[in-house]
Formats: sequence, C-alpha cells, structure tokens
Amino acid sequence: MSDNKVQIFDTTLRDGEQVPGCKLNTNQKLIIAERLDLLGVDVIEAGFPVSSPGDFLSVSEISKIVKNATVCGLTRAVENDIKIAAESLQYAKRPRIHTGIGTSESHIKYKFNTTQEKVIERGIAAVKYAKSFVEDVEFYAEDAGRTDNEFLARVCEAMIKAGATVLNIPDTTGYCLPEEYGAKIKYLKENVKGIENVIISCHCHNDLGLATANSIAGAVHGARQIECTINGIGERAGNTALEEVVMIMKQHPYLKLNTDINTKLLYDTSLMVSEKMGMIVQPNKAIVGANAFAHSSGIHQDGVIKNRETYEIIDPTEVGVTESAIVLTARSGRAALAYRAKKIGYELTKLQLDDVYKEFLLYADKKKEIMNEDIHEIMKNTNVVSAVA
Ligand code: KIV
Ligand code: ZN
Repeated sequence: MSDNKVQIFDTTLRDGEQVPGCKLNTNQKLIIAERLDLLGVDVIEAGFPVSSPGDFLSVSEISKIVKNATVCGLTRAVENDIKIAAESLQYAKRPRIHTGIGTSESHIKYKFNTTQEKVIERGIAAVKYAKSFVEDVEFYAEDAGRTDNEFLARVCEAMIKAGATVLNIPDTTGYCLPEEYGAKIKYLKENVKGIENVIISCHCHNDLGLATANSIAGAVHGARQIECTINGIGERAGNTALEEVVMIMKQHPYLKLNTDINTKLLYDTSLMVSEKMGMIVQPNKAIVGANAFAHSSGIHQDGVIKNRETYEIIDPTEVGVTESAIVLTARSGRAALAYRAKKIGYELTKLQLDDVYKEFLLYADKKKEIMNEDIHEIMKNTNVVSAVA
C-alpha cells in the first residue's frame, strides 16, 4: 500500500444507521454493502452484532457476500460483545473487530465511574480477547476529541502493545477545531512508541459542521484511515461525508493523499442510500445535492456556458452526474435562455432573443422555475418557430 493512500472505512451501515427512523432491513443492508464494495471502500463497518439478532444476521450475511473490503463489527470493551462479533464475522474473507472504550474525563467519570488506569486495563483486555479471534483489531478511544493528549498517547501505546492494528481517534461529540484535531494526530505520531506499525484512523462527527475539515486535517498530519458515511448521515448532526473527503483529496493533488474510490459511482450511491433509508439529501449538499452542479444566477450561467470551469471546480461526470444544470429563473440572463432554447430546438437571432427574453421575464416573475413547456409557450407567444419542428 502506498504511503499516501488513505483507507476509506465506511460506517453507513453502523453509525449511519443510528439515525432515528432510518432503520434498514437485512436485504437493504446487503444491497448497500454490495454497492460499497463496488465503490471501492476499504472497510465496511456492517453493524454492532451484539445489539440485536437482526444486526448479527446482517453482519453475518454481509460477511458472506463482500468480495474485496474488510468487513468490520463494532463492540464495546465487553467479552460477550467481542465473542458475538467474532461469530458474526466468521464468513468474512477479511474480518475486523472494532472494540474500544471512552477515554475522556467525562466518559471515565460519568459513564464508567472509574479511573484512567482501569480504562486502560479494560482496553487491553478487550484488544487481547479480540485478537484471539481475528488478526485485524481496531481500537477506538471514544471521545478522543476531548481526551487529554498525554493520556490518549498512553492509551494508544498500551493498545499497540496489546496487538491493535488500527487506532481510531474519534471526535465523538464533534467538538474539535481542525487545527486542534490535526495537532492531536501529530502529537500521537510523535509521542507514541510503535505508532509507525499501526494505522491511525479519524472518526469525526459533525456537530459544529467540521467533520470533513477535521478528517482532512487528521490525514494531513498522518492518519491513513477516514471513517465516514454516504451523505454524511449518522448520530445527531452526522458523520464525515464519504463523498466530501474523497473529492477533497482528488481535487487537491498537492496534499498527496489518495483513495481507491471509483468516484463515478458517488452520485448513484448517494441516491441509493437516500432512497433505502428514506432520508432526503439536502439540495445544497456538497458533491451529491441536487443543486451541487446547478446554476441559476445570470452571471454564473453566462460564465458556465462560456466555460464550465468559471464556476465549477469539479467536472460533474467525475462523480456520476450527467451534466451541469442551467436552471431558468427570473435571475437568469439572455445567455441562459438562448442556451436552453437551442437545446430544445430554437436557434434565436439577436432580435428574436430580445423579444423572447422580455416575455420570459414576465413568465419567470410568476413562476419559481421556467421549464421546457414554458419555453415552447413563450416561443408561440412571440411567434418563434422551432428549427426542428
Ligand atoms: O463516535 C464514536 O466515538 C463512535 C465509536 C463507537 C467508534 O462511533
Ligand atoms: Zn461515531
């Protein structure tokens, strides 16, 4: 594996599925898992097997069909969770157990009512037990974002010694600023013995809208796995959006970070997850929202018609969107109207365009968006005949 490759760990089916009302059945999960494998993700977190018989079954069935990706099951640092996860992963070609425990002051005091030392002991026992079933064991230090760096480094070192192959540093509450999260990863790289033998993973939540920025900051400072979900779905304000981190790394080659994702499948995968989960994607969502490649103001439309790159940094076909959209509204100019009219068969002279544009504005002030049927009507009112009619 190249030093610059960032593994994509997709948790749509685990953290993503924790969205209220978005429960998927096993069949739906299998369809999504198959698509994620095709998309090129490195790891599919298929569920939390001990949580319910349905989740156990899903992880087990997904393990049977996934061809390329590692299949991962989540556990707490609890023996029974780990045993059940191992059972559910028995058919996986590449199984991974993802175990861990809260490490922040708040988790240690309020969730566990224990001490730092006991937390480390529980972590070690969990990693060692998981190791007795599978080679690939990822450890998460829950709420690492709010965990003191010195203590976090001690935790990481102990987990490496116990056999962890991946160290997940979650910003569970979405608290960190990108600089702070990047510095945390850098601190671990510089202060944990054996860190060069494991992969550091970013798992960022979006409570302050910083999940993507934090994950990229982590990768810039040496993390080589990003945990994310399609459309950024997940607990509360969601997780890091897979399509965002992947396209950031692709659009900024100077970062020297890359992934194995087939970006041409991103849009379709977003639609599939949205439809199966019954969760609409906000229209202004980066990369996959309905408006991500739509232009509606006259100035922008004029620029895009002359050259797409004036207002677009991504070629829409790179993410599986057929073409940029020129949306006709009262804010559109003559260039956009002429462009659309030509597409549906009207080649307008300058004089005709002046007339048609006046009529267009009257329509556009009454309607939110002018559709092709409206243009045909406008042409009729202004006595323009289609070239293809
Ligand atoms: O956000 C988080 O800390 C998690 C862990 C269970 C990995 O989802
Ligand atoms: Zn999470």
